[in-house]
Amino acid sequence: MDKSVFRNMSYGVYIVTTMDGMRPTGCVANSCMQITSDPSVVAVSINHDNYTNKCISESKSLAVNILTEQTDMTLIGRFGFQSAKDIDKFEGIAFEWAYGNPVFTDSCGWFAGDVIGSYETSTHTVFFVEVKDAKSLPGTPMTYAYYHKVKNGTSPKNAPTYQADEPAESSLEAASASRWICSICGYIYEGDVPFEELPDDWVCPVCKQPKSVFKKG
Ligand SMILES: Cc1cc2nc3c(=O)[nH]c(=O)nc-3n(C[C@H](O)[C@H](O)[C@H](O)COP(=O)(O)O)c2cc1C
Repeated sequence: MDKSVFRNMSYGVYIVTTMDGMRPTGCVANSCMQITSDPSVVAVSINHDNYTNKCISESKSLAVNILTEQTDMTLIGRFGFQSAKDIDKFEGIAFEWAYGNPVFTDSCGWFAGDVIGSYETSTHTVFFVEVKDAKSLPGTPMTYAYYHKVKNGTSPKNAPTYQADEPAESSLEAASASRWICSICGYIYEGDVPFEELPDDWVCPVCKQPKSVFKKG
């Protein structure tokens, strides 16, 4: 089976938000699609290991925030490469409320609603959501292709579209021989200080992984 065909599918990049009891939380997801128009139903696919899965299952409510081409990569690093099991993802982040869920004004729109059903696959839960509130905001939506090709982003294993050789295809090839690339998220170090001279406790500004995960391009 030629799994590279899946790379020809188109997606956006989103942050799915929900509540962990009283605490706002969420994760990056590209696997989001509209299922019906009236009533408006969307589906999102969330890995069983993601903390967000447990929170959505309990709150039965979520919002989808549509990221733009200007979205700060550190937001993707925090929501897409770190877990709310370990950190408070919303600490220091500006947000508003929509239908009981946190939403970002730094997006080109969001929609929020109730989980009306779900389907279990072996690794992911597909949540079906009836949209109850929505807002469109200015900005150009970031496609998954733009995220990979222009932002040099990669996807962790919990993303349904993950492919094992992804970093080599999207980021490592794009880097020149003198660059250092984060093997976790694809961030390319281009600072003035030579990479080797960075302090040992330096971490990737996107996914917060240690210096040791960087590879020379
Ligand atoms: C570009 C990108 C796309 C992703 N797409 C999905 C997705 O569709 N579904 C999913 O479950 N995880 C996806 N992830 C992975 C989660 O965002 C990641 O595992 C996150 O750390 C989970 O956080 P949590 O444990 O707080 O829920 C994606 C990550 C990135 C960076």
